[in-house]
Amino acid sequence: MRILVVDDEKIKRVTLADDLTGEGHEVVTAGDGQQAADLLDREVFDVLITDLKMPRIDGMELLKRLKADPDHDHLAVILMTAYGSIPMAVEAMKQGAFDFVTKPFRNEEVFPLIRRIEAQRRDEGEPTSEPVEPSPADDLDRQIIGASQAMKQVKRMINIAARTDANVLLSGETGVGKDLIASVIHRRSHRRAAPFIKTGCTLFPSTLIESELYGHQEGSFTGADQSRKGRFELAEGGTIYLDDVDDIPLEHQAKLLRAIEEKIFERVGGNKLIHANVRIIASTKLNLLDKIADGTFRQDLYYRLDVLRIRVPALRERREDIPALARHLLHRIARGHDYRIDDDAIVQLTQHHWPGNVRELVNTLERALLVSGGHITREVLQSEASGVASFQPGAQPGIAEAATARVSMDAGGFKAAMEFAEKQLLVSALEASGGNKSAAANSLGMKASTFRDKLAKYGLK
Ligand SMILES: Nc1ncnc2c1ncn2[C@@H]1O[C@H](COP(=O)(O)OP(=O)(O)OP(=O)(O)O)[C@@H](O)[C@H]1O
Ligand SMILES: [Mg+2]
Repeated sequence: MRILVVDDEKIKRVTLADDLTGEGHEVVTAGDGQQAADLLDREVFDVLITDLKMPRIDGMELLKRLKADPDHDHLAVILMTAYGSIPMAVEAMKQGAFDFVTKPFRNEEVFPLIRRIEAQRRDEGEPTSEPVEPSPADDLDRQIIGASQAMKQVKRMINIAARTDANVLLSGETGVGKDLIASVIHRRSHRRAAPFIKTGCTLFPSTLIESELYGHQEGSFTGADQSRKGRFELAEGGTIYLDDVDDIPLEHQAKLLRAIEEKIFERVGGNKLIHANVRIIASTKLNLLDKIADGTFRQDLYYRLDVLRIRVPALRERREDIPALARHLLHRIARGHDYRIDDDAIVQLTQHHWPGNVRELVNTLERALLVSGGHITREVLQSEASGVASFQPGAQPGIAEAATARVSMDAGGFKAAMEFAEKQLLVSALEASGGNKSAAANSLGMKASTFRDKLAKYGLK
């Protein structure tokens, strides 16, 4: 391929050009953005690798100009950004950059990116006689329902995430679709042929967390009678989804940071370093900045996770999506059976507060379908709702109500079982301490603030 390398730092420019030439590419270099722009006007390149911070025209400006010019449609842009300027890198991705690398980096780290560009060119280029797999890129609107501005922005971010290997942090209330989005990002990414491994971080006792994530060697702790691969190994080459990442206890965060940052880890009780080739998608229902402020979440870990942030809006912030969502979900729930929903029932749905978001909508429709025998009316929704939660426009959920809703909705899952166990522990610690929260927290080896968070989470205040 023909590659233009632009950097005002001569050593980086020259060594990168040399190494890329060694890989069989034809490389031209430029010392600043203006020089690059001139070259790009005169010559044709496949790839531009440019520094972000440069005199005269900087990398971002160059990128914007190129993307505004149809002549450069085919040029893939890779940005080199300084460590810590991730927001710029994200902005660059939004502007249409192919990918970015964070300085300092080893030149070889660029090779796989170039190979990906080559592979894409091949796919787009020659028509093949092989039956082509239907491209997952086409049906995002069918995988994730929602045409509101807020969801359009989410989908833009999903597309960006799918085209990069950057870690993703999904934030949003319970039931907004974080799991769904994580799996969609994986399925649309270049890692789609490798596994997507989800792991809940609300594991208790917390010693299980390390074994769960990194695996363990036989005999490394009581009960470990066989060696076992952890999630990181199982996800090799693919994506690992850390659900409720804020629940990882502080003492386990350093190891996670290392696994993410240096891409190596050891099994519990093992001494062999294992290489981790995984992309991380993490989810949280909280504002992690609060957890950083109260000392229960490491800031450096946060920065590693929060490269691309996707905030998934609550359902009540995008009521215009409810009719389409309701129809989509009903179709899914009915599984081929006949059903009907009245227009005023749909209107009723758009007015509810939805503390449990899309999952609550799923459950509501499931119940309504059952009790109505297939014809959902406004009355069915109203009578259904009265026994469960107040089904009134704008009703505010209490914490306890949200917590019960959550537990019952997750019922059956491993996570639910763990949460149940955790809740029991909290209750018995509280009882044993006669209601003294800091003593109870102490007895569990938990920070008082974490303890309080957990109480709130289960509505045990
Ligand atoms: N935009 C959407 N289009 C279609 N289905 C959706 C959408 N958003 C959510 N769902 C469905 O709603 C349900 C809940 O979504 P999901 O499990 O992804 O939520 P979550 O944010 O991970 O919740 P929690 O924080 O409680 O784990 C799932 O059945 C999912 O398929
Ligand atoms: Mg989830």
